[in-house]
Amino acid sequence: MCGIVGYAGTAPAQGTSLSANHRALEVIVEGLRRLEYRGYDSAGIAVAGANGIEMRKKSGKLAKLLEELEQNPLPAASSGIGHTRWATHGGPTDENAHPHVVDGGALSVVHNGIIENYSVLKATLLKRGHSFVSQTDTEVAATLLGDTYRELVLAEPGVPSTGRLSRAMAAVARQLEGAFTLVALHADEPGVIVAARRNSPLVVGLGDGENFLGSDVSGFIDYTRRAVELGQDQVVTISAENVEITDFNGVPAEGREYRVDWDAAAAKKDGYPSFMEKEINDQPDAVAQTLLGRTDGEGNLTLDELRVDPSVLKTINRIIVLACGTSAYAGQVARYAIEHWCRIPTEVELSHEFRYRDPIVDERTLIVSLSQSGETMDTLMAVRYAREQGAKTVAICNTNGSTIPRESDAVLYTHAGPEIAVASTKAFLAQITAAYLLGLYLAQLRGNLFQGQIKDILAELAKVPAKIASVLANADQIKDLARSMADTRTVLFLGRHVGYPVAMEGALKLKELAYIHAEGFAAGELKHGPIALIEEGQAVIVVVPSPRGRDSLHAKVVSNIQEVRARGAMTIVIAEEGDESVREHAEHVFYIPETSTLLAPLLTTVPLQIFALALATAKGFDVDQPRNLAKSVTVE
Ligand code: M6R
Repeated sequence: MCGIVGYAGTAPAQGTSLSANHRALEVIVEGLRRLEYRGYDSAGIAVAGANGIEMRKKSGKLAKLLEELEQNPLPAASSGIGHTRWATHGGPTDENAHPHVVDGGALSVVHNGIIENYSVLKATLLKRGHSFVSQTDTEVAATLLGDTYRELVLAEPGVPSTGRLSRAMAAVARQLEGAFTLVALHADEPGVIVAARRNSPLVVGLGDGENFLGSDVSGFIDYTRRAVELGQDQVVTISAENVEITDFNGVPAEGREYRVDWDAAAAKKDGYPSFMEKEINDQPDAVAQTLLGRTDGEGNLTLDELRVDPSVLKTINRIIVLACGTSAYAGQVARYAIEHWCRIPTEVELSHEFRYRDPIVDERTLIVSLSQSGETMDTLMAVRYAREQGAKTVAICNTNGSTIPRESDAVLYTHAGPEIAVASTKAFLAQITAAYLLGLYLAQLRGNLFQGQIKDILAELAKVPAKIASVLANADQIKDLARSMADTRTVLFLGRHVGYPVAMEGALKLKELAYIHAEGFAAGELKHGPIALIEEGQAVIVVVPSPRGRDSLHAKVVSNIQEVRARGAMTIVIAEEGDESVREHAEHVFYIPETSTLLAPLLTTVPLQIFALALATAKGFDVDQPRNLAKSVTVE
């Protein structure tokens, strides 16, 4: 949540038409544009100009700030900081927008996270005579930083200001509790940006005669592919020529440099009207790329990145999948496959519930975290907790260099490419794919499946991208239906077995994008209560399993459709090609290509995403930045 950009440079890169004066502003605005998906309640920029710190900020989306900058331009500067906010403490007003400028205009600070002891600190600062113009925890941290800086000035008479902001930042960071990335710019050291991070993301970008900070690499992807991971509890100081990292006690530390392997174009809309639509259409590639290179010449799964000792994986007796939101639904889908293939008891738990219930975890428990961003605070905290209890942790993640994989014993990256739209789509399919690979790998290692069976499943998985492409190519019918339902006030989704988490994901997409009340139910649960919701005309979308599947599941779901229809529901059915039996029970049927029961979610989810997108678009909503949401939830 919240996007942060920092820039320290001197002159423009050779060949650019921009003057040195505007390089900082250009970089920061571009970074904010790319990071806006992290929060869009307000945006602001501060630069260190010839007359000290100058700042502009505005509630609302970045466009509002850009209008403000047109009216009221910022002065020439070679360094600056920017912020796009998802409100936590204090509403989305101009006053609560970042940067917060304190200390008589000398110091400006932006922040991502929540400072849990801010009220105690604020009380102390109020006693010292400070007053506050915002309701934010950030202004408290900024004020404390200003005080600490001035104390150092008094304690070091005659000493040049170099390094003082870093020392003050470290001293403040030691006093803060909670999660924070704090980034500061001081008028005394105008070419320097100092940041501290604890439990909240920050990446350094290494340029040529310029350096960058970003909440993630998209904050500077247009300018450099060289990135440096920061560790927990570290302070980083950047100038045009230098990057220095220390811990909170000032002890020098090393950051791990890596190359960003996706290009800037991958984070552009490619002619689609929204990132959401582009990302839905990226899904054949997202699945194909996630499958790519995971086998050896003989077709055995290799999963090179998975660095947990195979002898340990052989002895695990339980798997707990930790995730939130869409990622948790991917985990629920994966559970069916992992238990079926590996015969290991597998639970899926919402990360934020996990560590507060005193869970039983030991060294024979394998924790599998699922996170697109790799920064979700709830999941990060749950993974840390499980590690402390001795569990082995594997992260399934889409973001290279992010915190959750870094703090896990092993990682299996999904290669969906950057996902920018706030509502997750391609990451969901990529997560299911990666979790299936993990399940097959465990089954191979533990001898639960014959090699031939694994090869057959892999061969079937390899056909999925083309099948998704066929669903995408035949989506007009579902788009038309969605548009015709723009006035619908509530939609229920039903599914069974792997169709149940798909139903919940379909409902979540509709809530997030179209602000329509939607619920996903296990079809079998309906008669235990939710069927009371059915009245004349109630829209019910049903994910029907393959008629070729096991245990008459298909027949049971068809009965469930009949039950709701008998009570007046308008039924919309997602079924497998050739399943004519559902036609007589449905107002609308959408067919997906044939595949096995366990792989079906990779196809059945797609029409539900398209339905939510088309309905939200028909209502005129911003599908990339739905209200009240942020892409990466970095607060608990
Ligand atoms: O980055 P993560 O996968 O950890 O994010 C988890 C959820 O916050 C995320 O899936 C959220 O539910 C999305 N808005 C769903 O569209």
